[in-house]
Amino acid sequence: MRYDFDNIPDRRGTGCYKWDLAPEGVIPMWVADMDFKAAPFILEAVQRRLDHGVFGYTMVMDDYYQAVVDWFGHRRGWKIEKDWIMCIPGVIPAIACTLKAFTKPGDKVAIHAPAYNHFYTSIRNAGCICVENKLLRSGDSFVIDFETMEVQLADPEVKVFLLCNPHNPTGRVWAAEELRRIADICAKTGTMLVSDEIHCEIEMPGHTFTPVAIAAPDVPAVVFNSPSKNFNIAGLQIANIICPDPAWRKKIDRAINDNEVCDLNPFGVEALKAAYTPEGEEWLRQMNEYVYENFKLLRDTVSRELGWTVCDLQGTYLAWMDCSAAPLDTVAVQKSLTEVEKVWINNGEMYGDRQYMRINLATSHELFAEALDRMVRGLKRICGKA
Ligand SMILES: Cc1ncc(COP(=O)(O)O)c(C=O)c1O
Repeated sequence: MRYDFDNIPDRRGTGCYKWDLAPEGVIPMWVADMDFKAAPFILEAVQRRLDHGVFGYTMVMDDYYQAVVDWFGHRRGWKIEKDWIMCIPGVIPAIACTLKAFTKPGDKVAIHAPAYNHFYTSIRNAGCICVENKLLRSGDSFVIDFETMEVQLADPEVKVFLLCNPHNPTGRVWAAEELRRIADICAKTGTMLVSDEIHCEIEMPGHTFTPVAIAAPDVPAVVFNSPSKNFNIAGLQIANIICPDPAWRKKIDRAINDNEVCDLNPFGVEALKAAYTPEGEEWLRQMNEYVYENFKLLRDTVSRELGWTVCDLQGTYLAWMDCSAAPLDTVAVQKSLTEVEKVWINNGEMYGDRQYMRINLATSHELFAEALDRMVRGLKRICGKA
């Protein structure tokens, strides 16, 4: 079946974070959700649950666990055991609970930088100090500074390394060898490895996601994943913590209860089971192809019209554009583009690097072309090239 990504619903007036926070007439290309409708088989599953008509307190049953086990087993060769899976309403709560379970205020948590903005807030909310391991620009992409990372993690106050695999916002899909080195450094320095793998299904041509548990099966890790980002069902609030170690699970479970994030949304449960199926695989394949077309248009247009670089997109639907040639700071660029051309792209400040801007690619080709047109016109104006 060919899925329709061209016809996107009008999201304004639905309490939509992305669209309803944007001033009238502004095209929002910021927050990381897609404008695509959920896949038909997910809508049917949610509709069946809706038709049941009773929405009381919800737990997951065997078919849910089986769906998760089968999905990662089949797609990644990762043999997850049912007992390792802990359900939670989101990956941010999973990060928060895990950090609270394994650190105390004043401890340090290390990350790669730039980073997904909630990494910074979750670390701060746990009372911890963030240690940034800056990714190094290499050509039109980024690499890990392993030497510095090893020195940073050797500090006994660094208790956790919070990895983003694939990486938001640079779009890197870490290779198995890179993950192996990260895990080795964690093992050598006694740092707990925690991996946020929420973007794991968004893979661009030539790149394949590797779970850290496959790259380094001998190094214990706590992994978070969810169909939310990949199938555009973030509002249904369902995610999983995969943790093979029973003692660690007990601590995380305590933190989940202490933070009162135990209750699940019945629609999220049904949506996950519908997503983790062969139809889900096909939908993802087509969606990834569709989004990559937007990326190519962005990369080529920005290069031709401005001579700027959009970093290589290996995973995620979030492009990372190098704005170092702009005469203004990217905070001012964002403001100017929003006010004058009426297109909203994010400056890199919230991700820890103001040299870049992040652009959400997951919308229809038609709307993306319009947004891109506005963005390029605005950037030319700002650069005095108009
Ligand atoms: C790396 C990463 N982790 C977590 C989240 C959000 O997770 P959730 O909505 O499940 O809390 C996002 C959303 O953009 C993300 O990019």
